Amino acid sequence: MEYKVIAIDGPAGAGKSTIAKLVAERINYTYIDSGAMYRALTLKILDSNIDLGDTDAIVEISEKVDIDFENKSIYLDGEAVDKQIREERINKNVSTVAAIPEVRKNIVALQRKISYGKNVIMDGRDVGTVIFPNAFLKFFITASLEERARRRYLEILSTGKTADLQDIKSQIEQRDYVDTHRADSPLIQADDAILIDTLGQSIEEGVQELMKYIRLHGGFVDAL
Ligand code: CDP
Repeated sequence: MEYKVIAIDGPAGAGKSTIAKLVAERINYTYIDSGAMYRALTLKILDSNIDLGDTDAIVEISEKVDIDFENKSIYLDGEAVDKQIREERINKNVSTVAAIPEVRKNIVALQRKISYGKNVIMDGRDVGTVIFPNAFLKFFITASLEERARRRYLEILSTGKTADLQDIKSQIEQRDYVDTHRADSPLIQADDAILIDTLGQSIEEGVQELMKYIRLHGGFVDAL
């Protein structure tokens, strides 16, 4: 059997992971959050008290790190770290770690290995351009900076925490800047990716739009 990959890329807070998870459930694919892997690595680096300027030490950790997904949780060295990887300190530092070329080489190898032998929907920044350039279908999901910041803000409020909209906006803007300007695998829409703007779209509308293309491109008839 030939396994298929659906690649979803785009900037922070565009709705990629929410949409990807729902689509994966509906077509019975495995959802893989490639950003969570950079986040887990960043958690390990921070908890090991390694200086973020010490590239050699960071690269060394990325060579040996044990990151895996099981039952919709992410495991770092055998421990579930779903909550920890969403902490503020990770948001602030993950793009710096992810910009190191040797780190990317190691994490991309891991991402390919984890996807092997499965039908996969993966979201991130370089899924359709670098990790799986031959993906069956590629989407680039985006929305305006204001809208993306507003969504993250509401997401945080819904968990009962407080947040500052301006802070969130500048943080997202900064992360997008680093992600789009790095030399290795910058965030960019692949030539053959379908652009989806989720501004003014509900989650279900986004899901339906992807499903429409998935059906159109065939190969999923049985799963649908
Ligand atoms: O969910 P959110 O949009 O906040 O970001 P994420 O998908 O969790 O990714 C966190 C960070 O990891 C991004 O800002 C990138 O710096 C990096 N990343 C990457 O370089 N390549 C990927 N394929 C996925 C994430």
